[in-house]
Amino acid sequence: MSHSPVLWHVTMSLDGYIAAPGDDMSWVFDFVDASDPGGDGVGERTGAVVAGRRSFEVGSRDGRDVLDGAWSGPQFLLTHRPVEVPETIAVRSGDVRPVIAEARRAAAGHGVLLIGADVARQCLEAGLIDEIVVHIAPVLLGDGVRFRGATGRHNLHLTDVSRHGDLITLHYRTEGR
Ligand SMILES: NC(=O)c1ccc[n+]([C@@H]2O[C@H](COP(=O)([O-])OP(=O)(O)OC[C@H]3O[C@@H](n4cnc5c(N)ncnc54)[C@H](OP(=O)(O)O)[C@@H]3O)[C@@H](O)[C@H]2O)c1
Repeated sequence: MSHSPVLWHVTMSLDGYIAAPGDDMSWVFDFVDASDPGGDGVGERTGAVVAGRRSFEVGSRDGRDVLDGAWSGPQFLLTHRPVEVPETIAVRSGDVRPVIAEARRAAAGHGVLLIGADVARQCLEAGLIDEIVVHIAPVLLGDGVRFRGATGRHNLHLTDVSRHGDLITLHYRTEGR
């Protein structure tokens, strides 16, 4: 079976925030096309989505379900707490490695898209991320949730840089360990 790459896709303000205060994500949609939530072709490459509960709840609160709606393929939600979601969403908890393995099988050769910084951190620390796609939005937010990597050093290769209007997109490959 072909290898399903694991992608962390994130939009960041120039001053390094991924959410404005109060988990406000409205600014992202001023710059990123909502019809392609992955952005820059990432959506087309996605075969399964794995999201953290905080991102899921922010999306639901804002009426922009990150898992249901625009995305109709396999969906995994990570949470430690009971949650009411449609049966189409697989709720998982604990070690990310078996969850990502399951998502890879479900993605059937397409990519596994990670949504949520905490989930991405765990996957980075487990050496599971193949690609990081970062949009740099032309805005200074001043405060909010910081972009963070993971514990320890992780070398990356810049594989592509593109510009769509004022939005810069950086594609990185992680170095194998
Ligand atoms: N700019 C962007 O591109 C972008 C994209 C996505 C999200 N965001 C924003 O960035 C912030 C992300 O926050 P975050 O990093 O805290 O969010 P996250 O990764 O979406 O969610 C973290 C939560 O998911 C659950 N979880 C994570 N790993 C788990 C595991 N292995 N087992 C069980 N449950 C697990 C836990 O929730 P419980 O323990 O509460 O169940 C944890 O607190 C939010 O403001 C979000 O809106 C920005």
